[in-house]
Amino acid sequence: MANQLCIVLDFGGQYNQLIARRVRECGVYCEIKSHTTPIEEIRSLNPMGIIFTGGPNSVYDESSPHISKEIFDLGIPILGICYGCQLMAYTLGGKVESCNTSEYGMTDTHYDKSCVLFGAVENLSDTATSWMSHTDFVSQVPEGFKIAAHTDNCPMAAMYNEEKKLYAVQFHPEVSHTVGGLGMLDSFLKNVCGFCGDWKMDDFIEKTVAELREQIGDKNVILGLSGGVDSSVAAGLLSRAVGKQLTCVFVDQGLMRKDEGDFVEETFTKLFDMNFVRVNCKDKFLAALKDVTDPEKKRKIIGTEFYNVFWEKIREFGTEGFFAQGTIYPDRIESGKGNKAGHGKTDVIKTHHNMVEMPVDIQFAGTIEPLKDLFKDEVRAVGEKLGIPHDLVWRQPFPGPGLGVRILGEITEDKIKVLQEADAVFRDEIRKSGIESELKQFFAVLPDVRTVGVMGDHRTYDHLIAIRAVTTDDFMTADWAKIPFDVLARVSNRLTNEVEHVNRVVYDITSKPPGTVEWE
Ligand code: XMP
Repeated sequence: MANQLCIVLDFGGQYNQLIARRVRECGVYCEIKSHTTPIEEIRSLNPMGIIFTGGPNSVYDESSPHISKEIFDLGIPILGICYGCQLMAYTLGGKVESCNTSEYGMTDTHYDKSCVLFGAVENLSDTATSWMSHTDFVSQVPEGFKIAAHTDNCPMAAMYNEEKKLYAVQFHPEVSHTVGGLGMLDSFLKNVCGFCGDWKMDDFIEKTVAELREQIGDKNVILGLSGGVDSSVAAGLLSRAVGKQLTCVFVDQGLMRKDEGDFVEETFTKLFDMNFVRVNCKDKFLAALKDVTDPEKKRKIIGTEFYNVFWEKIREFGTEGFFAQGTIYPDRIESGKGNKAGHGKTDVIKTHHNMVEMPVDIQFAGTIEPLKDLFKDEVRAVGEKLGIPHDLVWRQPFPGPGLGVRILGEITEDKIKVLQEADAVFRDEIRKSGIESELKQFFAVLPDVRTVGVMGDHRTYDHLIAIRAVTTDDFMTADWAKIPFDVLARVSNRLTNEVEHVNRVVYDITSKPPGTVEWE
């Protein structure tokens, strides 16, 4: 039901978007609003529930974010989390003090199951782990409140006033380390607020498309399409919203995987209504990379050339309209903009390792980032709903410089061809083996090493291919994947038989650290 709204009131905590995401997981539509939002505005939005987020401050600091007492008189259920919990206590006449020892991380927490927040959570033990991060605590709950949880160090880990439908937890139920945390949020939303929980990704698409139409009007939009998941899903959404007013610029530097450029072009020209512009500039890139062997120089050249081509194309189209990007929420965290919900900066292009400023002469009417509040798996869910092919939606990460970081030494057309073929064979075998979903990234590398071999009666002196497959949660650290020997044997056999100029195969068994996922 589109009218059922939960407001997440932002007090500057680092997990605010995660709270929003958990609320969506419970099938409830939510919007994040600043704590400065006037009470009148909150009332007029008619939310069925409000969640106060955490925040880095102490409630007794004059400068810390506060809230008018009136909010508690609206009759709307409220859940306070961490700072939000302390703020609720403080505002309603309780007492907040600094802890002797701050609590941080996984903490044994004792729950009183007669509180609906905990009693309704399936399989929640009386004592279970919660995730804490606080230096203040509520030393005295406000009148009419009961304590519903405590830890060995903190006498008040949760409090509630059932009659007024006010609930608060000192820990972070939104963080996955809190056992039963999602269930607690779900219980607040369904059992206390009365949400029916039927919000779906389709509703996100419908609402976003309507907002995009309104924002864009009759202007044009340009999007840099990389063929990755995020820009593809952003393109799909924009296409649904404004059709041919959208132009996607796809710069093909010739360093994509085998047939990938054609696949991207076919997908977006056949399945979606938009202007699709493919700029083939392999020769330009190869010329710029001639004789260059230093990894950093290669990266720099690829990045610089890419943006030269891209900005040139944009200047050709003109900048009267909007510039769109497939920025997703984790990108904003990585670039330090995570807390500024709804305030994406206009001068940053999303790339993984290279944040790039837009040239000063390029000034768009505005920037559009339709996925800026979503997490990767939510983006994929939207992509599936939009009908983007499975291979694109579930595409493994692929570095901006493409195969350029997987061809060691000088990059030449011949080497690109060998690597593309080898990589395609490896990926095909992984797909057939049924272990694809266990691997986060897998690819072939051309280390620019030739070794002696024998084929038939002949001596060969040809390329070595390295194959790399990793498992990881966040790519900050990674482990090499324990691919079964029979799969490795098939890969090796096919690579040396089917890929011309390959006579030896090695498997990279280096974790990160000390290795990186990519070889350059
Ligand atoms: P490393 O090699 O740093 O890779 O361990 C971690 C993850 O980042 C990807 N990667 C990149 N992605 N532009 C990107 O968009 C880049 O320059 C880049 N370099 C590495 C890599 O594929 C892995 O998923």
